[in-house]
Amino acid sequence: MNKNLFAENIFENKVAFVTGGGTGITGGVARALAENGAKVAIISRKIENLEPMAKLIKESGGECLPVSADVRDYAQVESAVRETVEQFGKIDILVNGAAGNFLCEASELSPNGFGTVVDIDTKGTFNVARAAFEELKKSKGQIINISATLHYAATPMQIHVSAAKAGVDAITRNLAVEWGKYGIRVNGIAPGPIEDTEGMKRLVPEPVKEKLLRKVPLGRFGRIKDIENAAIFLCSDAADFISGVTLVVDGGHWLNGTSFS
Ligand code: HXC
Repeated sequence: MNKNLFAENIFENKVAFVTGGGTGITGGVARALAENGAKVAIISRKIENLEPMAKLIKESGGECLPVSADVRDYAQVESAVRETVEQFGKIDILVNGAAGNFLCEASELSPNGFGTVVDIDTKGTFNVARAAFEELKKSKGQIINISATLHYAATPMQIHVSAAKAGVDAITRNLAVEWGKYGIRVNGIAPGPIEDTEGMKRLVPEPVKEKLLRKVPLGRFGRIKDIENAAIFLCSDAADFISGVTLVVDGGHWLNGTSFS
């Protein structure tokens, strides 16, 4: 299922701003948006995490601007938005993918550990949406917030990420309501267990993989391509009347419980 399932160049003349767009799931989304014609700015704290993806996109004939910024720092986010608009003229699509994660029991987690993840995921999502608002208003653009299913039930060792992603889902719904009048659509994607990602490496040690797989009704782990396809659909005109939704892409996993073990 590696071929492009969508019409050629559906994002021609569109500009995307993708946080966390250097690696993992959001890296795939950035690459897929570029493959479908968008000019893409990718944002991460460390420029060295962006350079390989920028090179890949450019070598495939796309346009990519790597920008280093910490989504927790509003001034840095504003500057990244400014640099993108200077380079590409506008922003049509914002993908909030920057996220922090590690496994830790609530009883062991420091307040700063909890706050760090909430700051990256939740405050970071707000910061970037807020900084890009004027551009999205001009372009009647849209936002995709990358969420998770962890908080649909309770996922041990993930209290920080669960709280952070519940906040992200609230932001998705709130902005969909407040910014709908500007023609801005705001949606989310909640990936389940996706192979070959940093999240899976951190959350699912090799010995528990088989047990986890048995909890996925579709009988396989997700692929980054599955999330790319969901993002392309939500960003396309085919989703023109969809806003405020967080689309779960998990093969049915969470219906058997949100635990990753
Ligand atoms: C306990 C930890 C910890 C760990 C950090 N902290 N790692 N606590 N266990 N493994 C605590 C620190 O002790 C510190 O608190 C606080 O968090 C901040 O740590 P720093 O290292 O100073 O912060 P910073 O460098 O800003 O960021 C740390 C980080 C980040 C949040 C851990 O490096 C990170 O998450 N990187 C991973 C990125 C990633 O994998 N993204 C994909 C996410 S996947 P104290 O009290 O000591 O000062 C995802 C999907 C989820 O989100 C869905 C499931 C698949």
